[in-house]
Amino acid sequence: MSSATVSSTLQVRVRATTYEAQKVLGFELVPLEPATELPAFTAGAHIDVHLPGGLLRSYSLLNDPRESRRYCLGVNLDAQSRGGSRHMHEQLRTGSVLTISKPRNLFEMDESSPFNVFIAGGIGITPLLSMIARSQALGTPWRLHYAARTRQHAGFLDLLAAYQGQPGADVQLNFDQEPGGQMLDLNAVISALPVGAHVYACGPQPLLAAYEQATFSLPPARVHREYFAAQEAAATESGYTVTLARSQRTLQISPGQTLLEGLLAIGAEPTFSCQQGICGTCEVRVLEGTPDHRDMVLTEAEKAANDRMMVCCSGAKSARLVLDL
Ligand code: FES
Repeated sequence: MSSATVSSTLQVRVRATTYEAQKVLGFELVPLEPATELPAFTAGAHIDVHLPGGLLRSYSLLNDPRESRRYCLGVNLDAQSRGGSRHMHEQLRTGSVLTISKPRNLFEMDESSPFNVFIAGGIGITPLLSMIARSQALGTPWRLHYAARTRQHAGFLDLLAAYQGQPGADVQLNFDQEPGGQMLDLNAVISALPVGAHVYACGPQPLLAAYEQATFSLPPARVHREYFAAQEAAATESGYTVTLARSQRTLQISPGQTLLEGLLAIGAEPTFSCQQGICGTCEVRVLEGTPDHRDMVLTEAEKAANDRMMVCCSGAKSARLVLDL
């Protein structure tokens, strides 16, 4: 079960692939028609890439948002790959044509911040690279803490080296498996935040768990993060009834079944991608009932409003949900 529908797609060509680090390739995507522009994006945005077999994978755009003629991605070959990153690494070639979604942003910058601190773990550097470019354009000083096992595992170091010595730029590299290396001390990073700084983190689960703890007492509006993988299991403990308001259909979700599985089983065609509550593709408006939110996309305030939900992972606390589908 990995098909999806997307309303807003375009085709691009792979102009270049680059070796960036162990198991990390860079992809430069350009319009099919030379000298045309791609849809604009903002720092932190991602695109969904359509892959054979109906797979849809989300990748952050890492280039400067002022660039209108290319999208740049970094793709880590995931050992647990269900086909997405493996296809990107092994099948895509220079000249290949790809179908992608238009950019969407679930990891927005607050451009009023007086100082930005970026924390990257491994391939989590990608959305932060576009944010760094944006900070430079805005003249907002920034500091990056980039953690990887070794220098060989850290992609895009050349790109970062170009910021060396520029006013307001500070790149701190942390390689914990090199001789004398240590894990990045997030408590030290957070306690040294400049006044009013906003902090952005992207990386694997253990880094983000430590980040949540280290930033616990900061005002939530200054703390931003993007997850790679689900933090919570999907809500499948209980059964409930779902009415689809637009199509006037009702279905029963059984214990052990996700809402997305139930929707697909009756032939509904919700848009979805990650199936882990991290990309936001499957958001649906809730017209009645109380969702059991399990995603990493909505803020606590948005979850409390109970007027939308991610159907791939969230379920129902009430006996019935009415969805705008
Ligand atoms: S499909 Fe990604 S959040 Fe649901």
